[in-house]
Amino acid sequence: MKVGIDLIHFATSDFYLGLDLFALEKNQDLNKYLVGIGQEKMSIAPPDEDIVTLSAKAAEPILNQIERHKISAVLFATESGVDQSKSAGAFVHSLLNLSNRCRVIELKHACYAGAAALQMAVNMVKVNPKEEVLVIAADIARYDLNTSGEATQGCGAVAMLVRQAPRILEVEPGSGYYTEDVMDFWRPNYRETALVDGKYSTKVYLSSLKQAWLHFTEETGKKMSDIHQFCYHIPFTKMAEKAHKQLIKITQTQQTEADTLEQIKASQIYNRIVGNSYSASLFVGFCSLLDHAHNLANHRVGFFSYGSGCVAEFFTGIIQPGYQSYLMTDSHQAQIEQRQPLSYNQYLAFYHQTEPNQDNIEFATHHTGPFRLSAIKDHKRIYIKTQD
Ligand code: CAA
Repeated sequence: MKVGIDLIHFATSDFYLGLDLFALEKNQDLNKYLVGIGQEKMSIAPPDEDIVTLSAKAAEPILNQIERHKISAVLFATESGVDQSKSAGAFVHSLLNLSNRCRVIELKHACYAGAAALQMAVNMVKVNPKEEVLVIAADIARYDLNTSGEATQGCGAVAMLVRQAPRILEVEPGSGYYTEDVMDFWRPNYRETALVDGKYSTKVYLSSLKQAWLHFTEETGKKMSDIHQFCYHIPFTKMAEKAHKQLIKITQTQQTEADTLEQIKASQIYNRIVGNSYSASLFVGFCSLLDHAHNLANHRVGFFSYGSGCVAEFFTGIIQPGYQSYLMTDSHQAQIEQRQPLSYNQYLAFYHQTEPNQDNIEFATHHTGPFRLSAIKDHKRIYIKTQD
């Protein structure tokens, strides 16, 4: 039985900060960002947008195409949780009018949780083929101002419907994984922004890729030449390039640099202008591949997920014939094109007003999306649907 991604859609915020303005503000050469880390823009969430509203926006177009009461579970992956107890998925479940006969759970391990949720969903369907699982990966990447990470912020949510006989991607059995207790990037409970040892984190990313790959080849017997395209976790696009070049090197694959870059090029287009979206980033990259590469039917895609701290996994999937008919490319591109640019001061105003400590607050309407965080009353978050 084939199981995998039947439909996939991503959402990002209505605003972005250009790294051209950022470079001017920080008195840095723009090429450090465009070339050095490979980023042009980062999506910035206004105060009335969070992982819940982004996720509902990502999932709604999928649910409009299916019988939504059949969703039997929501697996919500994030490291930007809005509550220490309640799953963000429970808010999304309500906004999306899902059946009460549904399980909802939040999963966390840095940027890895999205891949973990996808694998769990696939296994749930294999055990019970009646299951239709909504997997959501959503994050808002935030670092302290004037730190190396500030240029690599961003936000996004990806929703995926996982079921049998998938129309877009069959997730193949067998994967390679690697866990090690390291402190390369973390966010203590008392902080709203992540702490990161930037250079060290890139080294651990690359060493984890090697270990996950070695495990993957042992488990599956597959080789580099069996895989046509690659999607990496993309904290910034240059990281994926470094990763893929390393994989080519350790597997002693003989191919030109142009061919190496071609295997990842289409998967980087959205991430370059959306920025990091932590657990969603691998799947934003997959959407980018699907929307920009031609004729991927029957191609095998390699996926590398990396979550700092760290857990990594390498797995593969096969693109299904006819997949093009089920893509939501227009929606992805419209959202990206319609974003409003922020000045650096507007970005700062959003940045400083994210998580108010007061008990009661009404949020001004900043964005035009279908769902918004309207208030926090008596410590309870109030979400509303703004469009029918
Ligand atoms: N023209 C061209 N290239 C330039 C340049 C210029 N004018 N100026 C600098 N560069 C190059 C540098 O040579 C460098 O290239 P290499 O990486 O190949 O050496 C690159 O641009 C970056 O420059 P710096 O090293 O000076 O940049 P930095 O130290 O300020 O920041 C970073 C780099 C450490 C990665 C930083 O962006 C960061 O801390 N990011 C957050 C952490 C992160 O994303 N880590 C990734 C792995 S962890 C992970 O994946 C999980 C996750 O999502 C966080």
